[in-house]
Amino acid sequence: MTAPSIPTVDLEDLRSEDAARVRAAHAAIREAFGTYGLAYVKNHGVDQAGVARVFEGFRAFTKRPADEKEHFARRADWFQRGWTPPNTEVAVAGGGQPDFKECYFAAPYEREPELASQYPELFPENVWPEDAGAWREDYLAMGRALHEAGAALLRGAASALDLPAGSFTDVCEGGAHVTRVLHYLGLAPEQVDKGILWGEEHTDFNLLTLLPGGSFRDPSGAVAPKPDDRSGLFLRTRATPEAPSGTQVRGRPPEGCIIAQIGQQLEILTGGRFIATPHVITAPGVPGWTRDSAAHFVHANPNRVLYPLAPFLDDQSRRAYGPPVLAGTYAIKTLVDIGLAPPTAIEKLGYRHYDRLEAQRRGS
Ligand SMILES: [Fe+2]
Repeated sequence: MTAPSIPTVDLEDLRSEDAARVRAAHAAIREAFGTYGLAYVKNHGVDQAGVARVFEGFRAFTKRPADEKEHFARRADWFQRGWTPPNTEVAVAGGGQPDFKECYFAAPYEREPELASQYPELFPENVWPEDAGAWREDYLAMGRALHEAGAALLRGAASALDLPAGSFTDVCEGGAHVTRVLHYLGLAPEQVDKGILWGEEHTDFNLLTLLPGGSFRDPSGAVAPKPDDRSGLFLRTRATPEAPSGTQVRGRPPEGCIIAQIGQQLEILTGGRFIATPHVITAPGVPGWTRDSAAHFVHANPNRVLYPLAPFLDDQSRRAYGPPVLAGTYAIKTLVDIGLAPPTAIEKLGYRHYDRLEAQRRGS
């Protein structure tokens, strides 16, 4: 059996006037997103030097005193902006094991006021340290470049499925897109081989995730190649009769490429033609190594309905992905499940008439 190989999609091919190049890119997208839920992306327009500066800036932030960082931990905003402390987020599939990482969230685009008032915790204001100037600019530029690469890919992905090119990007217009920078923590010697994961296995709940590639640091803090063969990003392929649990494949992009991952929302819209990528970030088998990484999450507009689009609607997809649900409702439920929103956030969903009646009967 040959080793599985994840296709590379060249955004120049998608922009080309040459029909053969466009057809080849569409075929690569169908194979990448249909089998792996993940594509490598070439000619993406993301400035790698800028990404390195964003990592450097966040690394400096993580070294600030805990009480200073705590000021940027926005629990009331469900950690959708600012700093997420270590051991906060959990993966549902991991049975609640918290991730060994700390993160920062910022939105690279202006919010739509109406959506921000409907979903305040999905669209909070960005927060920045006072001296963040250049870091903020690099951060936002990275987020926008990743978003634009994602939009180009989504147009290609729609065409690859014989849909109008704007079918997915229209759904994302006004979404709570957010860019995250991550710092995976070094293990102490006694933590090695104790089952600690940098990021438990999960699928992303948004529509498409763009990863500009991470970098390892050795215990001295210097950028270095991977510490061993077991640390980094691994994904699980689609189940087949021969491999009902799928196959684990290392996600390592060719030099200069970024990664695009399908999230749950796009799996739903395509009725499973594209699969949300189950992925895990494994920690090294040696102490003291850390990893810097970033991700941009493209979301459906919270008022759009998540349900298979008409060409993908059949009995099977109705059963798998029904009933239809608003993307905003879906986001609130997921943020509770992964530990970022409090359990009481669920009370925002559904009707509240009996709460109001009870309050009225009490005269309050
Ligand atoms: Fe993820």
